[in-house]
Amino acid sequence: MENIRLRKATSKDRAIVADFDYSLDKDEHIKLHRIEKITKAISNEECFLILIDKQEVGFVIFDYRFFDQGWIELIIIDEKYRRKGVGGKTFDIIREQSKSDKVFTSTNNSTTQMQRALTKANFTFAGKLYGLDEGGPEVFYYKNI
Ligand SMILES: CC(C)(COP(=O)(O)OP(=O)(O)OC[C@H]1O[C@@H](n2cnc3c(N)ncnc32)[C@H](O)[C@@H]1OP(=O)(O)O)[C@@H](O)C(=O)NCCC(=O)NCCS
Repeated sequence: MENIRLRKATSKDRAIVADFDYSLDKDEHIKLHRIEKITKAISNEECFLILIDKQEVGFVIFDYRFFDQGWIELIIIDEKYRRKGVGGKTFDIIREQSKSDKVFTSTNNSTTQMQRALTKANFTFAGKLYGLDEGGPEVFYYKNI
């Protein structure tokens, strides 16, 4: 898909980012105080809106906290825009802009759509980590730049 780009989120975008997160999982959004995570990522300039033309369709939080490697902390795309290649294109843009040798990410074992999207984008399986989440292991992936 063409015309997909990332724009650094500012404090003015906090509500729209929070809406994407709330829509994905209302209970977790509230229970885990995700607004604090979003606010912090925006103030650290680590939160990016995903745009198709001028339309916001999701967001991604990207930083270097994982052993100084690029780290996709969270990506959420609005349900209406999923499976159209937006996730894959977002991974490509992140790789192009990353200052590290590799980009890593992880997701819960149960989040199969993320695992499929990563596999399709040629990310390599890096291993599973048990104990973080009682709901199942965390699955790690990476891609060379
Ligand atoms: C995970 C996510 C970011 C992927 O973004 P996306 O834009 O849908 O990804 P793509 O369109 O690039 O998908 C690429 C491939 O992934 C696979 N895939 C994605 N979602 C799938 C689904 N629901 N069922 C089966 N395969 C799926 C397919 O192989 C797809 O390619 P195809 O449509 O040509 O078959 C998006 O689904 C999302 O926001 N999910 C909810 C939030 C989430 O789980 N985030 C990850 C946790 S950090």
